[in-house]
Amino acid sequence: MKNRQFNSVLIVGGGVCGLGIGWRLAQVGRPVAVLEQREVGPNSLPAATWASAGMLAPHVEAEPGEERLLPLLLESHARWPAFAQELKEASGIDVGYRTEGTLVVALDRDQVERLRFQYEFQRKLGLELTWLSGDAVRQREPHLSRNVIAALYSPHDHQVDNRQVLLALRQAFLAAGGVLREHASVAEILVEKGEVQGVRLISGEILHAPVVVVAAGAWSATLPGLPPEARPPVRPVKGQMLALQTPPDAPLLRHVVWGRDVYLVPRKDGRLLVGATVEEKNFDARLTAGGVYTLLRRAWEILPGIDEVPIVEMWAGLRPGSRDDAPILGATPVKGLILATGHYRNGILLAPITADAVSHLILTGETPESIRNFGIDRFHR
Ligand code: GLY
Repeated sequence: MKNRQFNSVLIVGGGVCGLGIGWRLAQVGRPVAVLEQREVGPNSLPAATWASAGMLAPHVEAEPGEERLLPLLLESHARWPAFAQELKEASGIDVGYRTEGTLVVALDRDQVERLRFQYEFQRKLGLELTWLSGDAVRQREPHLSRNVIAALYSPHDHQVDNRQVLLALRQAFLAAGGVLREHASVAEILVEKGEVQGVRLISGEILHAPVVVVAAGAWSATLPGLPPEARPPVRPVKGQMLALQTPPDAPLLRHVVWGRDVYLVPRKDGRLLVGATVEEKNFDARLTAGGVYTLLRRAWEILPGIDEVPIVEMWAGLRPGSRDDAPILGATPVKGLILATGHYRNGILLAPITADAVSHLILTGETPESIRNFGIDRFHR
């Protein structure tokens, strides 16, 4: 990078998407640099990869109106076990892939009605879910409140530790020969006569490249220099979260548990994540009393045993929400400029397919069938 002539692929954004694509390219010997405005890891907050919960839950999160997205989610979900294994082999880091499954619980008659609707809708889509009584769900998770009167069990909705995934991707990318530039803020995407030329950093340094990938999460639409036809319609959607510390050998939960507007995600180290708010606050990523209070109240209603459990961390992240909640993947009208953003609530789940499909496009010039419906052109039709 010293000579400023980097004649290959520049990826703007060092999250799970940018590093995943970069890793795939570096694995086959393509020169590639990832530019990250902060650092890859804890200091990347409020970027979504570090902030998220790592749920791989296309089944219980399937909602009316998202039927077109479901095949992409399921395809990426199917790739996760091999992706996790490959990442472990390449980095030496276990990404905490867990297969206990997910429960969705109901606390009152209204919630049971909603759960019944969700169950019927998801079953019609061919998804495997089981209806459980309150007693049956407490046999699986004895610490759940006596007020839980019904639940769904989804055996295939798994989880990974998203933070370990990010650290593993960083390591795998570097080990494969990728170049990582941290604290590298992009001042301008350089475009001339309909072709991308590279980027200018705020330091003034110019990096030339025939291919630039925008994988900058919630910041993707803010990059100066993007022509309107290539600017992804992405906005930040804030999620506040917190972590409680339970004893690793006596966890309160083993499954991921969803309630009404709250989820609880147990980690192997005893951390119990509680998330997340969904707020339109532009780039304001501050925690609020109301946000944290609401999450804790909802979590406590489901799992009263958290009462005495210490809070060890609170944070907020910014999801990259697109106009239709689906990701924006693939080529743009600007030659060489490629998008991998807008993953909204599914960034970790979609990481394997994003890495595979976008790197395939860069290496072969062909857009894989799996992402053809998710180009930026859908917003211009
Ligand atoms: N996928 C969980 C969230 O966005 O909060």
